[in-house]
Amino acid sequence: MRYLLGIESSCDDTSIAVVAEDRSILANVVSSQVQEHAPYLGVVPELAGRAHLKNIPAVYRKAMDDAGLSLENMTAIAVTAGPGLAGSLMVGVNFAKGLAMGAGLPLIGVNHIGGHVAALFLEYGEIPLPALALIVSGGHTHLFRVRENRELVLLTKSRDDAAGEAYDKLSKMLGLGFPGGPLIDRLARRGNPKRYAFSKPKFSDGSLDFSFSGMKTAASRHIERDPEAFRDPDGEAVRDLAASFQAAVCRHLLDRVSLGLDQDAAQALLLGGGVACNSHLRTEFEALAQSRGLPAFISSPKLSTDNAAMIAAEGWRLFHLGRRDELDLVTDVSAKPYAAVDLLRKT
Ligand code: KG4
Ligand code: ZN
Repeated sequence: MRYLLGIESSCDDTSIAVVAEDRSILANVVSSQVQEHAPYLGVVPELAGRAHLKNIPAVYRKAMDDAGLSLENMTAIAVTAGPGLAGSLMVGVNFAKGLAMGAGLPLIGVNHIGGHVAALFLEYGEIPLPALALIVSGGHTHLFRVRENRELVLLTKSRDDAAGEAYDKLSKMLGLGFPGGPLIDRLARRGNPKRYAFSKPKFSDGSLDFSFSGMKTAASRHIERDPEAFRDPDGEAVRDLAASFQAAVCRHLLDRVSLGLDQDAAQALLLGGGVACNSHLRTEFEALAQSRGLPAFISSPKLSTDNAAMIAAEGWRLFHLGRRDELDLVTDVSAKPYAAVDLLRKT
């Protein structure tokens, strides 16, 4: 059996994984920096870079221990080269270069968003293609067509905040904590999604980009109108606002997926990225797929949030395509994961 080492350090999780060629995950160690960033209610890039540098050797040793393997057993090393935070990316890429050089192994730079898509193929194996893939995280909100050869075509993306970022900002406004997604998700389950109004994002140029900054502004207006009511973090107003916001975010995401399906036939619907952990989105996504007679593939929570197993999985795909990088591999903070753009049109 051949094994590939995956390294992920693009944002605030330091992760190293070992994934076999048959898709089995031998190790997937994730060291979260939530403790470091929590006091600031958001990721502080400078702190993230330093924490990666400090944590990565121990994460590597634990991954090798969990896998019961050593570097000589690896066939290649895949590392996230972008998009992400500059200082954070550099830690992973330089660590990967050191290992590749020391052991004489091939090095493969991987796109982080492509990794989120690969997580679905890692988990489910065969997925009927072409498919539509919605990747929603703290940094990205993208809708892709996945071609038969697994190339990604961009249909639409966010023109401002990412969906997860909007969750994190609402949580910050309500003084709930970081990361906000899971906190809002939990509160929303006990709230009334019809209490607060959130209008659908609309652009004068007719663009079908995703947009979440308007929802954030609408939420802050609701809070400003009655600040007293929002003091209790478990109060009715907070729960109802969480539920109304969550319903609006999911409605907006699924509206675009529906348009994508109207535009071009797909064989399956894929959902990945950290926000794929959201309970309401998972249920609604399944329901949409069912109403269209399509199978839904949703990554499990462990493979939805940032992890290196997905980077190793994408590394395997590229390895089989013959991709190899040199030791001068550079990081690219705004690397694109798609081969072509075919923007959504109103149908
Ligand atoms: O994919 P990920 O780990 O990192 C990025 O690539 O950004 O996603 C993290 C994001 C955070 O914004 C977090 O609040 C959000 O995913 N998230 C959620 C949930 N769990 C994590 N958002 C909504 N509901 C959740 N249950
Ligand atoms: Zn991510």
